Amino acid sequence: RKKVTLQTIKNLYKKGEPIAMLTAHDFPTAHVADAAGIDVVLVGDSLGMVSMGLENTTEVVMEEMIMHCRSVVRGAKSAFIVGDLPMGSYEVSPEQAVESSLRLVKEGRVHGVKIEGGEELGPTIKRITQAGIPVVGHVGLTPQRQNALGGFRVQGKTCTSAMKLLRDALVMQEAGVCMFVLEAMPAEVATLITSKLKVPTIGIGAGNGCSGQVLVQVDMSGNFQPGRFVPKFVKKYADVWGEATRGIVQYRDEVKSRAFPSQEYTYPISPEELAKFEK
Ligand code: KIV
Ligand code: NA
Repeated sequence: RKKVTLQTIKNLYKKGEPIAMLTAHDFPTAHVADAAGIDVVLVGDSLGMVSMGLENTTEVVMEEMIMHCRSVVRGAKSAFIVGDLPMGSYEVSPEQAVESSLRLVKEGRVHGVKIEGGEELGPTIKRITQAGIPVVGHVGLTPQRQNALGGFRVQGKTCTSAMKLLRDALVMQEAGVCMFVLEAMPAEVATLITSKLKVPTIGIGAGNGCSGQVLVQVDMSGNFQPGRFVPKFVKKYADVWGEATRGIVQYRDEVKSRAFPSQEYTYPISPEELAKFEK
């Protein structure tokens, strides 16, 4: 597969072909996403929840993001790879944000960074962009700010709130954002924001009018025990939990009954050597 660049993404956007984005957090999840033809792989800080088992993303730190990014980059050879700036790595000053973005690119080896927030990030985005790093903006439900938002809540449900999201996006675009993630907002709001922008929007819980879609891989692949909470917008496309459980239960049973390992999984030794060894 040809390498996906920012130009490739721009071309898809111009042609009106939806952009397929998916998260990955390590080598195998990156490898399978890339092999399946995903355009943009996102190393989201949701890895704190789905890979590290944290309650939310606020605890995730740069070192963890860098380690996961490095693993993903080794697994995804064709996709455009974006890494999340974790909470605390960009809010203090534009300088801090540039430093963190440079680390994600130089140490994490990703192609671009994603930043949660709104119009207040204008100067910050401008500085990161000027350093030659593509910036993806994330507006709407911004999970790092869940405490200020009053939890994981749908955004843009009033005219005032929808206007704020549009203003955020326009200011961030002006500052240099190359692409947006629009999270958890009414489809009509996301569609209107998309129509007012000159760069692609990638929706998650934002309806079908965006320039592309993103989901958290382990959610959409059914990697967790059925019954675990997933947001309304998650469609389950596979049953990895069911398949892994089936295999592991069979393995356990075959270990207990000594059915595994059978001959074919065993290394041979010549009868002569064996005779000598047994003496
Ligand atoms: O962290 C993440 O996985 C994300 C996506 C949900 C957009 O930010
Ligand atoms: Na994220």
